[in-house]
Amino acid sequence: MTETNEITIKEIKHLISFIKTTYRFDFNNYAFSSFKRRIERILAVYSIPNIESLTIKLQQNPVFFEEFLREITVNTTEMFRAPAFWRKLRNDVLPILAHYPSLRIWSAACSSGEEVYSLAIVLKEADLLHKTKILATDINDLVLQKGMNGTYPNRNMEVNEKNYQRFEGKGKLSDYYSSKEENVVFDKTLIENVSFKKFDLVQNEQYSKFDLILCRNVMIYFNPELQNKAIELFGNSLFMKGFLAVGEKETIAFCKSSDNFLTFSAEERIYQKIKDNADRI
Ligand SMILES: C[S@@+](CC[C@H](N)C(=O)[O-])C[C@H]1O[C@@H](n2cnc3c(N)ncnc32)[C@H](O)[C@@H]1O
Repeated sequence: MTETNEITIKEIKHLISFIKTTYRFDFNNYAFSSFKRRIERILAVYSIPNIESLTIKLQQNPVFFEEFLREITVNTTEMFRAPAFWRKLRNDVLPILAHYPSLRIWSAACSSGEEVYSLAIVLKEADLLHKTKILATDINDLVLQKGMNGTYPNRNMEVNEKNYQRFEGKGKLSDYYSSKEENVVFDKTLIENVSFKKFDLVQNEQYSKFDLILCRNVMIYFNPELQNKAIELFGNSLFMKGFLAVGEKETIAFCKSSDNFLTFSAEERIYQKIKDNADRI
């Protein structure tokens, strides 16, 4: 860092290149300013004086790299985040999918699993959970483990409960969990058909085909090049007429493959695949 403690572009690029060679994670196409802000936060939280010391710490301590990864990738999430989206999913998307004999859904970048439990509850209330397989992926092992455990601190539940009320679910969120000291533990039957797997949207290739893909609140951290790549991956991973949902501050409108989709709900950022790449003129 310079004497004014301002991190330079060169330092950030050097750090990114070090991480790519050492840990095989590629942050080259993450949105630069938010990446820089996260680095500044890490330096402050861990009292690390500069980027050089951070690089040395990352080199010497792979366990610290996991914490670093969690800080960089922003794992903030909630159950029934943006409740109007979940209402739209229940009221307008699931009735279409309900006719299929079985369903495959991918929660891409699911963080600590709140999105997955929300999805499972919506499907259960629509009597579709028993015929649905869910793939839940994230780049970060630590958050995936939390998702598998389904144990969340009581202090997080107020916002989750409020979101569920705004979603106007059939019962109470507490119908789906039991209390255990400082935590709540979600009913394991909700995730009987869920596979939690590590998947890096930057580097991994198409996984399978799905009827619905949720990739919410991740692409805001990507630059346009990486957004294009992700949307292309999702297009390839959807069955024809399959749905893609992104976050409330995200859009696929400016992506190269956007004409493969029609906008199903502009408000709730839900798109439907209408074309394959091969069909494009
Ligand atoms: C803000 S959370 C969003 C969680 C959830 N989808 C939601 O909307 O609440 C962003 C997640 O994206 C994950 N992520 C970031 N970069 C990724 C990548 N290249 N591949 C897969 N997941 C990534 C992070 O680990 C984090 O859990």
